[in-house]
Amino acid sequence: MEDRLIAEEIKKLKEERNAIILAHFYTRREVREVADFVGDSLSLCREAVNSKADVIVFAGVHFMAESASIISPKKLVLLPVPDAGCPMADMVTVEALRKEKEKHPDAAVVCYVNSSAAVKAESDICCTSSNAVNVVNSVENREIIFVPDKNLGAFVSLHTDKKIHLWPGFCHVHENIGKEDIEELKNLHPGAEFLAHPECRPEVLNFAAHILSTSGIVKEAGRSEATEFIIGTEKEIVQNLKRKYPDKKFYPVSKKAVCYNMKKVTLESILNSFQSMEYEVKVPEHVRTKAKKALDRMLAVSGT
Ligand code: 13P
Ligand code: SF4
Repeated sequence: MEDRLIAEEIKKLKEERNAIILAHFYTRREVREVADFVGDSLSLCREAVNSKADVIVFAGVHFMAESASIISPKKLVLLPVPDAGCPMADMVTVEALRKEKEKHPDAAVVCYVNSSAAVKAESDICCTSSNAVNVVNSVENREIIFVPDKNLGAFVSLHTDKKIHLWPGFCHVHENIGKEDIEELKNLHPGAEFLAHPECRPEVLNFAAHILSTSGIVKEAGRSEATEFIIGTEKEIVQNLKRKYPDKKFYPVSKKAVCYNMKKVTLESILNSFQSMEYEVKVPEHVRTKAKKALDRMLAVSGT
């Protein structure tokens, strides 16, 4: 079926089911076009809380749908592709985190939302890339175990006087962006401003004019007086920026910066989700209530 016809069918079923589609910036263009809201991890969480819909179809990866289900248990949350996961989220397990907590009994656990519900349930508070510094500084403890992203944790440690115990996790999409990628583009476009995501390695972030979440990058590109930008995150967002700001120029820092898990969600999989009402994402109640506390604390720090 043609994309246009699939999109029309999705729209019809969405209305019938009182549903919304939430999509992350890294998903495919045609997927973002059928979404009711496109955003970063924090804004998607907020939309899930505030929406009056009965059904949320999450165009993103598993931990995002799981977070929506944790905070909005009465809504039916569907992930169109059940194996769209985040490899970084799998880099921390409950067992390993418990061992780390035993080593640092005075530390609070701050967990990036890119983590399983079970790990969130084992944590004191969650954070996203747009509020990580504020979240860490809001915690009373002097010591923090920060899981699972070592790069986001290292970025936060530059903006706090707390002692941060880093976890060795990383996002392969951002970790594979090298210093040489940015050096090459800086030579080609010396006037371009480099906007980078904090999941990038510290030696890459050293070149950045601003270090921001995906929503932050979109806002900054509009606000800035610069007319050329090098974008240090998953490359899908560059298309988004070009359409939003047609008078400005955008260059992806690396053509290899692609999150294949986000790309698993297609228009066909969304249509299938509405037709079969699959795949439901639900968290066992004893895990959900604990994980919700960590997410609620985060939302209280960042304001809902
Ligand atoms: P944000 O959505 O917080 O910018 O994070 C990017 C990301 O990697 C999501 O998986
Ligand atoms: Fe996970 Fe990285 Fe993909 Fe985000 S971009 S979902 S952190 S692998």
